[in-house]
Amino acid sequence: MAEATEMPYIELNTGFSIPAVGLGTWQSDPGVVGKAVETAIKMGYRHIDCAQIYKNEKEIGEVLSRLFKDGVVKRRELFITSKLWNTNHAPEDVPVALDKTLQDLQLEYVDLYLIHWPVSMKPGSVDFKPENLMPTNIPRIWEAMEKVYDSGKARVIGVSNFSTKKLEDLLQVARTPPAVNQVECHPSWQQAKLRELCKSNNVHLSAYSPLGSPGTTWLKSDVLKQPAVISVAEKLGKTPAQVCLRWGIQMGQSVLPKSTHEARIKENLDVLNWSIPDDLLAKFSEIPQARLLKGASFAHETHGQYRTLEELWDGEI
Ligand code: A2P
Repeated sequence: MAEATEMPYIELNTGFSIPAVGLGTWQSDPGVVGKAVETAIKMGYRHIDCAQIYKNEKEIGEVLSRLFKDGVVKRRELFITSKLWNTNHAPEDVPVALDKTLQDLQLEYVDLYLIHWPVSMKPGSVDFKPENLMPTNIPRIWEAMEKVYDSGKARVIGVSNFSTKKLEDLLQVARTPPAVNQVECHPSWQQAKLRELCKSNNVHLSAYSPLGSPGTTWLKSDVLKQPAVISVAEKLGKTPAQVCLRWGIQMGQSVLPKSTHEARIKENLDVLNWSIPDDLLAKFSEIPQARLLKGASFAHETHGQYRTLEELWDGEI
Protein backbone atom coordinates (compact mmCIF):
# COMPACT_ATOMS: atom_id res chain seq x y z
CA MET A 1 0.00 0.00 0.00
CA ALA A 2 1.60 3.27 -1.12
CA GLU A 3 0.75 5.25 2.02
CA ALA A 4 2.28 2.64 4.31
CA THR A 5 5.65 2.75 2.59
CA GLU A 6 5.66 6.54 2.94
CA MET A 7 5.21 6.41 6.70
CA PRO A 8 8.42 7.68 8.33
CA TYR A 9 9.74 5.64 11.25
CA ILE A 10 11.81 6.85 14.19
CA GLU A 11 14.44 4.51 15.61
CA LEU A 12 14.19 3.70 19.31
CA ASN A 13 17.05 2.88 21.68
CA THR A 14 16.29 -0.83 21.24
CA GLY A 15 16.74 -0.81 17.46
CA PHE A 16 12.99 -1.16 16.86
CA SER A 17 11.30 1.77 15.11
CA ILE A 18 8.05 3.59 15.84
CA PRO A 19 5.85 5.08 13.08
CA ALA A 20 5.72 8.89 13.11
CA VAL A 21 1.90 8.93 13.11
CA GLY A 22 -0.32 6.60 15.14
CA LEU A 23 -4.02 6.41 15.85
CA GLY A 24 -5.02 7.35 19.40
CA THR A 25 -7.93 5.39 20.90
CA TRP A 26 -8.56 7.19 24.23
CA GLN A 27 -12.26 8.15 24.31
CA SER A 28 -12.97 6.15 21.15
CA ASP A 29 -16.25 4.58 22.09
CA PRO A 30 -17.04 0.91 21.88
CA GLY A 31 -18.98 0.35 18.69
CA VAL A 32 -16.95 2.90 16.72
CA VAL A 33 -13.35 2.21 17.73
CA GLY A 34 -13.11 -0.98 15.65
CA LYS A 35 -14.23 0.80 12.49
CA ALA A 36 -11.77 3.64 13.17
CA VAL A 37 -8.89 1.19 13.55
CA GLU A 38 -9.87 -0.63 10.37
CA THR A 39 -10.22 2.62 8.41
CA ALA A 40 -6.87 3.87 9.69
CA ILE A 41 -4.97 0.68 8.88
CA LYS A 42 -6.49 0.50 5.40
CA MET A 43 -5.37 4.11 4.86
CA GLY A 44 -1.79 3.37 5.90
CA TYR A 45 -1.61 3.96 9.65
CA ARG A 46 0.72 1.40 11.20
CA HIS A 47 0.63 2.36 14.88
CA ILE A 48 -2.43 1.92 17.10
CA ASP A 49 -2.10 3.37 20.59
CA CYS A 50 -4.20 1.36 23.07
CA ALA A 51 -4.55 0.99 26.83
CA GLN A 52 -6.38 -1.40 29.09
CA ILE A 53 -8.18 1.49 30.83
CA TYR A 54 -9.69 2.73 27.54
CA LYS A 55 -11.96 -0.32 27.77
CA ASN A 56 -11.94 -0.93 24.04
CA GLU A 57 -9.03 -3.33 23.51
CA LYS A 58 -11.36 -6.29 22.91
CA GLU A 59 -13.07 -4.60 19.97
CA ILE A 60 -9.68 -3.54 18.57
CA GLY A 61 -8.47 -7.14 18.91
CA GLU A 62 -11.42 -8.45 16.93
CA VAL A 63 -10.68 -6.04 14.09
CA LEU A 64 -6.95 -6.78 14.08
CA SER A 65 -7.60 -10.50 13.98
CA ARG A 66 -9.95 -10.08 11.01
CA LEU A 67 -7.53 -7.82 9.14
CA PHE A 68 -4.72 -10.38 9.61
CA LYS A 69 -7.00 -13.22 8.49
CA ASP A 70 -8.11 -11.27 5.40
CA GLY A 71 -4.49 -10.46 4.52
CA VAL A 72 -5.04 -6.69 4.74
CA VAL A 73 -1.97 -6.26 6.92
CA LYS A 74 0.54 -8.53 8.63
CA ARG A 75 1.15 -8.51 12.36
CA ARG A 76 4.81 -7.60 11.84
CA GLU A 77 3.80 -4.52 9.83
CA LEU A 78 1.93 -3.04 12.78
CA PHE A 79 3.18 -1.28 15.89
CA ILE A 80 0.75 -1.83 18.76
CA THR A 81 1.14 0.02 22.06
CA SER A 82 -0.68 -0.72 25.30
CA LYS A 83 -0.35 0.50 28.86
CA LEU A 84 -0.25 -0.93 32.37
CA TRP A 85 -3.08 0.53 34.41
CA ASN A 86 -2.48 2.03 37.88
CA THR A 87 -4.24 -0.78 39.77
CA ASN A 88 -1.82 -3.38 38.41
CA HIS A 89 1.46 -2.04 39.79
CA ALA A 90 2.19 -4.90 42.19
CA PRO A 91 5.08 -6.81 40.56
CA GLU A 92 3.08 -10.04 40.36
CA ASP A 93 0.17 -8.20 38.69
CA VAL A 94 2.21 -6.69 35.84
CA PRO A 95 2.52 -9.86 33.70
CA VAL A 96 -1.11 -10.74 34.43
CA ALA A 97 -2.27 -7.31 33.20
CA LEU A 98 -0.19 -7.65 30.06
CA ASP A 99 -1.60 -11.14 29.44
CA LYS A 100 -5.14 -9.73 29.73
CA THR A 101 -4.31 -7.01 27.20
CA LEU A 102 -2.76 -9.58 24.86
CA GLN A 103 -5.83 -11.78 25.19
CA ASP A 104 -8.15 -8.84 24.43
CA LEU A 105 -6.04 -7.64 21.52
CA GLN A 106 -5.65 -11.25 20.30
CA LEU A 107 -1.90 -10.76 20.01
CA GLU A 108 1.18 -12.70 21.13
CA TYR A 109 3.14 -9.56 21.88
CA VAL A 110 2.75 -5.80 21.99
CA ASP A 111 5.36 -3.64 20.33
CA LEU A 112 5.39 -1.19 23.21
CA TYR A 113 4.16 -1.52 26.79
CA LEU A 114 4.09 1.59 28.97
CA ILE A 115 3.56 2.36 32.64
CA HIS A 116 0.42 4.46 32.04
CA TRP A 117 0.93 6.82 35.02
CA PRO A 118 3.52 7.11 37.82
CA VAL A 119 0.57 6.67 40.18
CA SER A 120 -0.36 3.44 41.97
CA MET A 121 -3.95 2.64 42.89
CA LYS A 122 -5.48 -0.12 44.97
CA PRO A 123 -5.68 -3.43 43.08
CA GLY A 124 -9.19 -3.95 41.78
CA SER A 125 -10.33 -0.38 42.41
CA VAL A 126 -12.49 1.08 39.67
CA ASP A 127 -12.89 4.74 40.48
CA PHE A 128 -10.68 7.71 41.22
CA LYS A 129 -11.56 8.21 44.88
CA PRO A 130 -8.61 9.48 46.96
CA GLU A 131 -8.86 6.35 49.17
CA ASN A 132 -7.82 4.30 46.15
CA LEU A 133 -4.50 6.11 45.74
CA MET A 134 -1.42 4.28 47.05
CA PRO A 135 2.26 4.94 47.61
CA THR A 136 4.12 4.46 44.33
CA ASN A 137 7.47 2.71 44.00
CA ILE A 138 8.56 3.36 40.43
CA PRO A 139 11.80 1.30 40.51
CA ARG A 140 9.83 -1.74 41.70
CA ILE A 141 7.22 -1.37 38.96
CA TRP A 142 9.98 -0.92 36.41
CA GLU A 143 11.69 -4.17 37.46
CA ALA A 144 8.43 -5.97 36.69
CA MET A 145 8.28 -4.16 33.32
CA GLU A 146 11.84 -5.34 32.60
CA LYS A 147 10.70 -8.90 33.26
CA VAL A 148 7.86 -8.69 30.74
CA TYR A 149 10.37 -7.22 28.30
CA ASP A 150 12.67 -10.21 28.95
CA SER A 151 9.71 -12.53 28.31
CA GLY A 152 9.36 -11.15 24.77
CA LYS A 153 5.69 -10.27 25.27
CA ALA A 154 6.58 -6.56 25.05
CA ARG A 155 9.14 -5.77 22.34
CA VAL A 156 9.84 -2.35 23.81
CA ILE A 157 9.04 -0.92 27.25
CA GLY A 158 8.57 2.64 28.34
CA VAL A 159 6.62 5.07 30.49
CA SER A 160 3.85 7.61 30.12
CA ASN A 161 3.07 10.82 31.98
CA PHE A 162 6.57 10.98 33.48
CA SER A 163 7.98 14.40 34.32
CA THR A 164 11.58 15.21 33.45
CA LYS A 165 12.63 14.40 37.02
CA LYS A 166 10.78 11.09 37.22
CA LEU A 167 12.28 10.00 33.90
CA GLU A 168 15.75 11.10 35.00
CA ASP A 169 15.42 9.17 38.28
CA LEU A 170 14.26 6.05 36.44
CA LEU A 171 17.15 6.27 33.98
CA GLN A 172 19.53 6.17 36.97
CA VAL A 173 18.23 2.80 38.20
CA ALA A 174 16.87 1.02 35.12
CA ARG A 175 18.63 -2.14 33.91
CA THR A 176 16.73 -1.76 30.61
CA PRO A 177 16.28 1.98 30.00
CA PRO A 178 12.79 3.12 28.98
CA ALA A 179 12.65 3.62 25.21
CA VAL A 180 9.65 5.96 25.18
CA ASN A 181 7.93 8.54 27.37
CA GLN A 182 4.41 9.12 26.04
CA VAL A 183 3.16 12.49 27.28
CA GLU A 184 0.76 15.29 26.48
CA CYS A 185 2.47 17.38 23.83
CA HIS A 186 1.15 19.96 21.37
CA PRO A 187 1.91 23.59 20.45
CA SER A 188 0.33 24.82 23.73
CA TRP A 189 2.35 22.36 25.86
CA GLN A 190 5.62 21.91 24.06
CA GLN A 191 7.58 20.00 26.73
CA ALA A 192 10.86 21.78 25.94
CA LYS A 193 12.64 20.60 29.11
CA LEU A 194 11.49 17.00 28.81
CA ARG A 195 12.41 16.96 25.13
CA GLU A 196 15.98 17.97 25.99
CA LEU A 197 16.34 15.18 28.55
CA CYS A 198 14.82 12.67 26.14
CA LYS A 199 17.18 13.76 23.39
CA SER A 200 20.31 13.49 25.51
CA ASN A 201 19.31 10.04 26.83
CA ASN A 202 17.93 8.55 23.62
CA VAL A 203 14.40 8.25 24.98
CA HIS A 204 11.72 8.87 22.36
CA LEU A 205 9.00 11.41 23.17
CA SER A 206 5.64 10.27 21.86
CA ALA A 207 2.87 12.87 21.87
CA TYR A 208 -0.63 12.10 23.09
CA SER A 209 -3.39 14.67 22.65
CA PRO A 210 -1.32 16.26 19.86
CA LEU A 211 -4.37 18.37 18.91
CA GLY A 212 -4.94 19.41 22.52
CA SER A 213 -7.86 17.01 22.91
CA PRO A 214 -10.51 19.40 21.50
CA GLY A 215 -13.32 16.88 22.07
CA THR A 216 -12.74 16.54 25.81
CA THR A 217 -15.70 18.44 27.22
CA TRP A 218 -14.17 19.10 30.66
CA LEU A 219 -11.12 20.84 29.17
CA LYS A 220 -10.87 24.36 27.83
CA SER A 221 -8.76 23.39 24.85
CA ASP A 222 -7.98 26.10 22.35
CA VAL A 223 -4.87 24.69 20.72
CA LEU A 224 -6.48 24.55 17.29
CA LYS A 225 -7.64 28.16 17.75
CA GLN A 226 -4.24 29.62 18.60
CA PRO A 227 -3.58 32.59 16.25
CA ALA A 228 -0.06 31.30 15.48
CA VAL A 229 -1.42 27.87 14.53
CA ILE A 230 -4.17 29.40 12.38
CA SER A 231 -1.83 31.78 10.62
CA VAL A 232 0.71 29.01 9.81
CA ALA A 233 -2.16 26.82 8.58
CA GLU A 234 -3.47 29.61 6.33
CA LYS A 235 -0.01 30.32 4.90
CA LEU A 236 0.57 26.64 4.07
CA GLY A 237 -2.97 25.81 2.95
CA LYS A 238 -3.31 23.18 5.67
CA THR A 239 -5.73 22.74 8.56
CA PRO A 240 -4.82 23.79 12.13
CA ALA A 241 -4.86 20.09 13.12
CA GLN A 242 -2.39 19.20 10.38
CA VAL A 243 -0.11 22.04 11.43
CA CYS A 244 -0.12 20.79 15.05
CA LEU A 245 0.76 17.28 13.94
CA ARG A 246 3.42 18.42 11.50
CA TRP A 247 4.98 20.60 14.22
CA GLY A 248 5.20 17.51 16.47
CA ILE A 249 6.82 15.42 13.76
CA GLN A 250 9.36 18.16 13.03
CA MET A 251 10.19 18.28 16.73
CA GLY A 252 11.17 14.61 16.43
CA GLN A 253 8.10 13.18 18.13
CA SER A 254 5.66 10.54 17.07
CA VAL A 255 2.10 11.90 17.19
CA LEU A 256 -1.03 9.97 18.20
CA PRO A 257 -4.13 11.90 17.09
CA LYS A 258 -7.42 10.27 18.05
CA SER A 259 -10.32 10.31 15.65
CA THR A 260 -13.23 8.05 14.91
CA HIS A 261 -14.22 9.91 11.73
CA GLU A 262 -12.87 8.82 8.38
CA ALA A 263 -12.30 12.32 6.98
CA ARG A 264 -10.28 13.37 10.04
CA ILE A 265 -8.38 10.08 10.22
CA LYS A 266 -7.31 10.84 6.64
CA GLU A 267 -6.61 14.51 7.32
CA ASN A 268 -4.36 13.53 10.23
CA LEU A 269 -2.30 11.20 8.06
CA ASP A 270 -1.76 13.83 5.40
CA VAL A 271 1.14 15.38 7.30
CA LEU A 272 4.03 13.41 5.84
CA ASN A 273 5.00 14.93 2.51
CA TRP A 274 5.26 18.63 3.35
CA SER A 275 6.90 20.64 6.10
CA ILE A 276 6.68 23.86 8.05
CA PRO A 277 9.56 26.15 7.01
CA ASP A 278 11.87 27.49 9.75
CA ASP A 279 10.48 31.05 9.68
CA LEU A 280 6.97 29.74 10.36
CA LEU A 281 8.22 27.20 12.89
CA ALA A 282 9.55 30.15 14.90
CA LYS A 283 5.97 31.36 15.39
CA PHE A 284 5.27 28.44 17.72
CA SER A 285 7.43 30.09 20.40
CA GLU A 286 4.72 32.81 20.72
CA ILE A 287 2.12 30.35 21.97
CA PRO A 288 1.30 30.53 25.71
CA GLN A 289 2.10 27.27 27.49
CA ALA A 290 -0.21 25.33 29.80
CA ARG A 291 -0.64 21.65 30.60
CA LEU A 292 -4.23 20.64 29.84
CA LEU A 293 -4.42 17.14 31.29
CA LYS A 294 -3.27 17.60 34.84
CA GLY A 295 -4.32 14.29 36.41
CA ALA A 296 -6.20 16.14 39.16
CA SER A 297 -7.41 12.87 40.72
CA PHE A 298 -3.87 11.65 41.23
CA ALA A 299 -2.74 14.13 43.88
CA HIS A 300 -4.33 14.39 47.29
CA GLU A 301 -3.36 16.08 50.54
CA THR A 302 -3.59 12.89 52.59
CA HIS A 303 -3.77 9.93 50.19
CA GLY A 304 -1.33 8.35 47.75
CA GLN A 305 2.16 9.36 46.70
CA TYR A 306 1.65 13.00 45.70
CA ARG A 307 0.31 15.71 47.97
CA THR A 308 -0.06 18.25 45.15
CA LEU A 309 -0.08 18.43 41.37
CA GLU A 310 3.25 20.26 41.65
CA GLU A 311 4.62 17.04 43.19
CA LEU A 312 3.01 14.79 40.61
CA TRP A 313 4.59 16.79 37.77
CA ASP A 314 7.70 17.92 39.69
CA GLY A 315 6.82 21.53 38.96
CA GLU A 316 6.16 21.05 35.22
CA ILE A 317 2.60 22.29 35.23
P1 A2P B 1 -13.29 12.93 16.34
O1 A2P B 1 -12.90 11.62 16.98
O2 A2P B 1 -14.76 13.16 16.37
O3 A2P B 1 -12.70 13.09 14.97
P2 A2P B 1 -6.39 14.53 20.56
O4 A2P B 1 -5.83 13.46 19.66
O5 A2P B 1 -5.52 15.73 20.71
O6 A2P B 1 -6.79 13.96 21.90
O7 A2P B 1 -7.72 15.06 19.89
C1 A2P B 1 -8.81 14.19 19.67
C2 A2P B 1 -10.03 15.02 19.44
O8 A2P B 1 -9.85 15.85 18.29
C3 A2P B 1 -11.27 14.21 19.17
O9 A2P B 1 -12.36 14.86 19.75
C4 A2P B 1 -11.39 14.21 17.65
O10 A2P B 1 -12.72 14.13 17.26
C5 A2P B 1 -10.83 15.57 17.30
N1 A2P B 1 -10.11 15.57 16.02
C6 A2P B 1 -9.40 14.58 15.48
N2 A2P B 1 -8.84 14.95 14.33
C7 A2P B 1 -9.24 16.22 14.11
C8 A2P B 1 -9.01 17.15 13.09
N3 A2P B 1 -8.24 16.84 12.05
N4 A2P B 1 -9.57 18.39 13.20
C9 A2P B 1 -10.35 18.72 14.26
N5 A2P B 1 -10.60 17.86 15.28
C10 A2P B 1 -10.06 16.63 15.21
